Amino acid sequence: MKIMILNGPNLDMLGVRQPEIYGNKDYDDLCFEIDEWAGDMGIMADVRQSNYEGELVEFIHEAYEDNFDGVIINPAAYTHYSYAIRDALLILNVPVVEVHLTDISQRDEFRRHSVISDICAKTIKGKGFEGYKEALEFFFDLL
Ligand code: DQA
Repeated sequence: MKIMILNGPNLDMLGVRQPEIYGNKDYDDLCFEIDEWAGDMGIMADVRQSNYEGELVEFIHEAYEDNFDGVIINPAAYTHYSYAIRDALLILNVPVVEVHLTDISQRDEFRRHSVISDICAKTIKGKGFEGYKEALEFFFDLL
């Protein structure tokens, strides 16, 4: 099973970016933990990050064209307004799991709405890095 894991803008700055909110661990730590979890579950995880909406859209197209079995996405700020990412996810005929490190329902008003939640099989929020593990487990349980 191969799963594409997509991370949106500013997630490459984890560890530096608002550590009081996102913690001290950096993006490499996140990638390392995802690789470990995926390895243990026998899942091939292709982890990518972009600060550009169009590049994220193209990654989603690639997930379609290369027959990925699912997508885990943390679109970061794009969560709240990117209809382009929503439309791209609608191309897929495999499950999509939405992940947020923080609980977006408990933060600023503008973060409370996700334009992709209703088209995702599951939304995981507020669990930090562990949220990605839970998302991988969703796919593991499908195996
Ligand atoms: C985030 C929450 C978003 O509101 C924010 O813009 C992010 C990260 C999260 O993982 O908690 O960049 O998606």
